[in-house]
Amino acid sequence: MRLHVVPDRAAAGAVAAREIAREVRTHPDLVLGVATGSTPVTTWAALAACGLDLTRVRAFALDEYLDIPDGHPESYSAVVEREIVRPLGLDPARVRTPGDDGKDAGAPERYERDIAAAGGVHLQILGIGRNGHIAFNEPGSSLASPCRVTRLAAQTRRDNARFFASLDDVPTHCITQGIGTILRARRLVLLAFGAQKADAVAAALEGPVTSTVPGSALQLHPDVTVILDGEAAAGLAHSETVLAGGPIPFPAPRVASPSP
Ligand code: GLP
Repeated sequence: MRLHVVPDRAAAGAVAAREIAREVRTHPDLVLGVATGSTPVTTWAALAACGLDLTRVRAFALDEYLDIPDGHPESYSAVVEREIVRPLGLDPARVRTPGDDGKDAGAPERYERDIAAAGGVHLQILGIGRNGHIAFNEPGSSLASPCRVTRLAAQTRRDNARFFASLDDVPTHCITQGIGTILRARRLVLLAFGAQKADAVAAALEGPVTSTVPGSALQLHPDVTVILDGEAAAGLAHSETVLAGGPIPFPAPRVASPSP
């Protein structure tokens, strides 16, 4: 796990965008896992500013509300179109959200199959909920869970009420990639900002691996980059050792001192 603690969201977005851009330069048809929410906003802005040709990139979103009217501006398909596809110049035909081919009982399995058919997600951008969720895998989700229909936790509905007219308007159900799905991505990049995420970040990165903290599943993945601001990193106890950013330099050999 590589940890970057950066001054602010803009700096975090620049680091994440650099990771994506590096991958796109070597794989122009990269399969990118995109996240919604406020966290990745600066990543998309920094990536758009790179001016890279992203028309061959394929993208799969993490999750989608189920009980939301088609075309609702807060449906994740609308958010992905508005905040990611258009500013980045992605080809809409290469971008998927769960249930975009029909929100029926077979949708989760089809989405899982379509990700696999695309060769799997190469680089997955992730945020984390205050309750430790990743995508919409709420506490209690199996660490091997596949793409599926599930319920939103009460806290997630309250947190996301800011996007809706009232709490009653927040959907109750969703289709989400599972934790097992996310762990199959080749690289994971997790971003988190603000003091309200500090407990979730500490529990996910340094606590026990448990379904009670879905983000703790990241400890099982061999290629994770974590990008935090100082407030989100404040609860980490081992950031200088276990999580120190980048490879730890191999120490120079000690020269044996002559015996007295
Ligand atoms: C949302 C999304 C997650 C997101 C998380 C954090 O509900 N389903 O994919 O990472 O909660 O949201 P935010 O980035 O707005 O803090």
